[in-house]
Amino acid sequence: MFWWAKKHDEAEKTIISPNGRVACKFLLKNNQVFYSIKKDDRDIIRQSKLGFLICGEEPLVDNLRLIRTQTKKHTETIEMLWGEDRYIKNNYNEMAFYLSEDKNSRRIFTLRFRVFDDGVAFRYEIPPQPNFRRITIADELTEFNLSPNTTVWKIPAYQPDRYEYNYEKCRVYDLSNSVHTPLTMRTENGYYLSIHEAALYNYGSMTIKLNENGILKSDITPLSDGTKAHVDLPFQTPWRLIMLADSAIGLTMNRVMYALNDPPAQDFSWVKTLKFIGIWWAMYVGEWTWAPGDRHGATTAHAKEYIDAAIRLGISGLLIEGWNEGWEGDWLENGINNKFTVSTPDFDLEEVARYASQHNIELVGHHETVGFVDNYENQLENAYNYYALNHINYIKTGYAGSMMTINGRKEYHHSQLGVNHYQKTVELAAKKHICLDIHEPIKGTGIERTWPNLLSREGARGQEYEGGALSPSHACFLPYTRLLSGGMDYTNGILDIANSVKRIATTITRQAAYFVTIYSGMAMAADRPFIYEERFPDIFKFIRDVPTNFEKTIALAGEIGGYYVVARKDRDSDNWYIGGVTDETPRRVLIDLDFLDNGVYAAEIYTDSPDAHFRENPFGYEISKKHVGKNDRLDIYMAPGGGFAVRLVRQ
Ligand code: NOJ
Ligand code: CA
Repeated sequence: MFWWAKKHDEAEKTIISPNGRVACKFLLKNNQVFYSIKKDDRDIIRQSKLGFLICGEEPLVDNLRLIRTQTKKHTETIEMLWGEDRYIKNNYNEMAFYLSEDKNSRRIFTLRFRVFDDGVAFRYEIPPQPNFRRITIADELTEFNLSPNTTVWKIPAYQPDRYEYNYEKCRVYDLSNSVHTPLTMRTENGYYLSIHEAALYNYGSMTIKLNENGILKSDITPLSDGTKAHVDLPFQTPWRLIMLADSAIGLTMNRVMYALNDPPAQDFSWVKTLKFIGIWWAMYVGEWTWAPGDRHGATTAHAKEYIDAAIRLGISGLLIEGWNEGWEGDWLENGINNKFTVSTPDFDLEEVARYASQHNIELVGHHETVGFVDNYENQLENAYNYYALNHINYIKTGYAGSMMTINGRKEYHHSQLGVNHYQKTVELAAKKHICLDIHEPIKGTGIERTWPNLLSREGARGQEYEGGALSPSHACFLPYTRLLSGGMDYTNGILDIANSVKRIATTITRQAAYFVTIYSGMAMAADRPFIYEERFPDIFKFIRDVPTNFEKTIALAGEIGGYYVVARKDRDSDNWYIGGVTDETPRRVLIDLDFLDNGVYAAEIYTDSPDAHFRENPFGYEISKKHVGKNDRLDIYMAPGGGFAVRLVRQ
């Protein structure tokens, strides 16, 4: 680190990563503050401005002066309760810049930077000060000044289906409409980065937009009153995080987001990851309905049948959707009437819960709020108590409306009020020892480190969009984009792919691969039990065997939107699992098994057959077995829209 102070209104200081490759420069010039980032002495982010606009006050951006700095070196290994990796490095050099205005009311704030080998993060911290205690943020001015030619993979923000869109590739100069983070990019000099945030609490989610000067700037999701956030001081923003990697596949192993979050908030030793089936896909293919009637899915009888099936299949959980009052008629329109403690007449929750407990099956309860947050919050305590009393330890929540209704007003899911609502559910659930899987969630920002009962979320276009709105490339984008923000409930394992109602754009083997390529702390085996038991018990074996908690993850190969190959070691055994997916292009991958420990492994290999094709021949698959060791190599074929799954059992 080096430093020189010029006039008191000018300063420049560089913070270097532990391995020396990443340099983040802080600059005070003309009484304004900026930062820039280089890797290997090459530009990643050029000089970018920082500051705030505050309602009813002068902007907090000009007239700044550096009072003092503070440096820190931090070296730590974090242990995660569950996830893709048990151990995560938290090694960084930190510098805090204490700033004050030299005019106006001499307000003060701190800019704290952390520079990691694979990322840079910074946040604003505003302490309480006289006449400056509760503030309304009109805008956060944080810029990310990248070359306009930088390649970007984006989904749009502020759209009715929240994060559920297909990824598109474009250039920075195309980003005039706001896009969500993680916003993954490739610089002209070949580095990969993703702009995201960590520890999002009590603030609007950051989207990104090109400003009038052609520079990318934070666009904090507004509230319905047009402001960005109302906060009491002290206040700190989420970390603004720039993940860095030399390759696209390297980016998928970035865990800085978790390192930036606090340790667990309480004892969470009761949290267990879960694999579950559900009274679910039968509704999507039109066999059953959510609403009561002749074809009602969530009846006591069906639930017991599914519990019996879960036992036979060796799956520990069962989701039941459509069990409560509120689904009648157009459920999207009528969601304001949903009752979360009242079952439909043909569903006896106590009886089903008793039957499940007796057979050691975990029920996954369901709360579809349709975004009517006021209605949900009025019932929240009672609804969670009702489940807790019935030993229901997992809840899938949903917010399928295009906006939320909070305090009687329409708000974005990813606004400050939306963020606070989700957090309220996570904390109340933690208190009652309940784990959550949130659909239509707020994006992940690593808070699962602090709140590990938040086992999964959706937050991207999932398999419910199959039947026309998903192409084989979609799941090849996710590892490099959405999944950088944490696990996802993609609702894997639909093996009835040729169903005429919801034709799936994958081969059958790829549905097994998803359990490795798309991590989820709550992993749904989404098809109906008879498909697993009667039609494809051989492929289902992989779905049953694959764990939901891993010791370590090694991403092996891939290209954004093209393909992805990953190996993961089980947390509770010496076994390894490998999965791969490809877009419409057939591919052959050679996998060096040098990551294995010494010894012999029995490999069970599930691949597309040479004539398989996601459209023409989706059921073409082969299952083979052989013994391998760390000096061996697997030669695997993936058909168009296909994939593969391998289980390696240590002998
Ligand atoms: C959307 C969710 O993603 C899906 O899983 C759920 O079945 C429906 N909403 C109904 O709640
Ligand atoms: Ca959804």
